[in-house]
Amino acid sequence: MKRAVFPGSFDPLTMGHLDIIERSLPLFDEIIIAVLNNPEKNPMFSPEERCAMIEEVLGSFDNKGCRLIVESFEGLLVDYVKSKDSYAILRGIRAVSDYEYELRMALMNRKLEPSIETVFLMAAEEYSYVSSRLLKQVFLLGGRVDGLVPELVEQRLRAKNGR
Ligand SMILES: Nc1ncnc2c1ncn2[C@@H]1O[C@H](COP(=O)(O)OP(=O)(O)OP(=O)(O)O)[C@@H](O)[C@H]1O
Ligand SMILES: [Mg+2]
Repeated sequence: MKRAVFPGSFDPLTMGHLDIIERSLPLFDEIIIAVLNNPEKNPMFSPEERCAMIEEVLGSFDNKGCRLIVESFEGLLVDYVKSKDSYAILRGIRAVSDYEYELRMALMNRKLEPSIETVFLMAAEEYSYVSSRLLKQVFLLGGRVDGLVPELVEQRLRAKNGR
């Protein structure tokens, strides 16, 4: 049973995240999408709202036999991963700029828990500039984000910001 944990803020879920999930379907039997509860980052959506959105989007997603679970978590990632009986952390890499941060995190996590490996996947080039943070900035300034987030997420962005 190969179980991976895909941790992130997912504030909100983007097509980049979905692309990483889709690419990892053939690699694992189960993927836990672990939504970080990070009040200090002043998220736009609460962890419950983020989880609900992801679950709804995945409801109409072809999971190709891979079990997808959505959960929120806090605390040390490696402890959470171990508690789920998993040995793989799934992360996506967009550009070289992601690499340095991801390498540091992966090496620190390896130091903390040598039995856990971090698996990196590259998203499609068309989403390589998409991040939740940039997307929120653009949306809050009145820009269009269609095609960069699932439709449901766009609706929730509108509802949350009175648009
Ligand atoms: N467009 C994308 N292509 C590839 N990987 C991505 C993409 N967007 C996010 N990821 C990856 O998904 C994981 C979770 O990321 P996270 O929740 O921080 O999203 P984010 O878009 O980077 O959000 P933020 O801008 O708030 O940091 C990270 O490994 C991140 O690199
Ligand atoms: Mg990020």
